[in-house]
Amino acid sequence: MSATSLNFSDDSDRLGTSFASTLGTGVPTPDGPSVAAAAALVRRVAADPTRWRDLVRYGQGAERWYARLDVDPEHEVWLISWLPGQETGLHDHGEALGAFAVIQGALTETTLAPDVVPGTVRRVRRRFAAGQVRGFGYEHIHDVGNADGQPAISVHAYAPSLTAMTRYSLAENRLTIVSSDRAGVDW
Ligand SMILES: [Fe+2]
Repeated sequence: MSATSLNFSDDSDRLGTSFASTLGTGVPTPDGPSVAAAAALVRRVAADPTRWRDLVRYGQGAERWYARLDVDPEHEVWLISWLPGQETGLHDHGEALGAFAVIQGALTETTLAPDVVPGTVRRVRRRFAAGQVRGFGYEHIHDVGNADGQPAISVHAYAPSLTAMTRYSLAENRLTIVSSDRAGVDW
């Protein structure tokens, strides 16, 4: 399937299934960033191969490849390639909301949902194939990776631009902070 034939569907309306939404925060202000705008942005960029077609490269080992396509204080856009097995690990996006669109291949997103025992969480995995758009609100925690056998390419937008992020791990189904970082690129 050529990228130009992709019809990007919007999955942003399923935010109710995310762990972040259970925290009861992250309602965008009318004048501030919105998940819908971020989803529209990645959909627009993904549907325009002239924005990314000649830029795509691939990383090595566990290191996925990425390039920033656009940035200003209000938003930033990244192009990311994913070889099979490459993944981000659990992280949030600081003060930002965002969205990603899968251009080629498929990405698997792992989110967390409350488990039976209070204070514990369980993993929820969903696969997003080429043409699908995933939006996420503030305080969204996820692990995104390529669990398929073919390389994947995606476009990601964050609003406002990323200035901080926290990495997490799960220990006995309890969320533990690994690190809190200021602006960087390995997100
Ligand atoms: Fe992320």
